[in-house]
Amino acid sequence: MSAKVFDTKEVQDLLKTATNIDGKDGNARFKQILNRLLSDLFKAIDDLDISPDEVWAGVNYLNKLGQDGEAALLAAGLGLEKYLDIRMDAADKAVGLDGGTPRTIEGPLYVAGATVHDGVAKIDINPDADAGPLVIHGTVTGTDGEPVAGAVVECWHANSKGFYSHFDPTGAQSDFNLRGAVKTDANGKYEFRTLMPVGYGCPPQGSTQRLLNEIARHGNRPAHVHFFVAGEQHRKLTTQFNIDGDPLIWDDFAYATREELIPPVAEKTGGAALGLKSDVYKDIEFNFVLTPLVQGKDNQIVHRLRAEAAA
Ligand SMILES: [Fe+2]
Repeated sequence: MSAKVFDTKEVQDLLKTATNIDGKDGNARFKQILNRLLSDLFKAIDDLDISPDEVWAGVNYLNKLGQDGEAALLAAGLGLEKYLDIRMDAADKAVGLDGGTPRTIEGPLYVAGATVHDGVAKIDINPDADAGPLVIHGTVTGTDGEPVAGAVVECWHANSKGFYSHFDPTGAQSDFNLRGAVKTDANGKYEFRTLMPVGYGCPPQGSTQRLLNEIARHGNRPAHVHFFVAGEQHRKLTTQFNIDGDPLIWDDFAYATREELIPPVAEKTGGAALGLKSDVYKDIEFNFVLTPLVQGKDNQIVHRLRAEAAA
């Protein structure tokens, strides 16, 4: 069927009534966005002659995506989350705001509610025979170089199987394993004692991987550690670093890698005195630079549905 119907009065009227775009009630912003997205979908169906079978395959896919709880994972895999970062970076540049640690995507696996420790936290609760000890430490400063005391640094990462606590299909991890929060000391210092993560792959039977298979893309990420950093009078930073040397660093299915976010990994001794499981351990120093509030506000705070648990 190659007949074009999008521009007909019938279809344009259908779009108007379906989204109640001219009605005075309802959420005007929501209607504006829905009308635009539905219009773009209708137009694409017309332009690409998308068949009824293809449309229903898409509708059914959305149902399955929701059942799998993978909509946010797909958003990362299709670059939607990266695109939001690109837009926020551009907005910062437009007002001359730079100099902070680059942001990168949050991903879907954060859990709120970790106990906040002063300065140092040991966050590996469960033994993990395949993961060696790792110390992550550094300083939180503002763009003026001054330390930010009392900033809260949260981190979360995978275990040696690529699974996150609270989302581990094997059930092997306790709540808040490899997740933690520390408050910086007077010098802006923070430290996490943990275990080395490995990369993460999308659930192989899940909807995200199913879509990626269709377009011949893999669903893997290099080993990485996520962070939120929040300090008084500064904007909250959402970022990650990659573990240097991972072969997927520049082939991340979620597009989170940035050049400034690949700190060197050093090997040190003295782990026993730090309570680590071996004396030799890996050490990553990563300093966070927070950007100032804009006209007294965090103008880029992101609200989204996040898991929450009691520590
Ligand atoms: Fe992750």
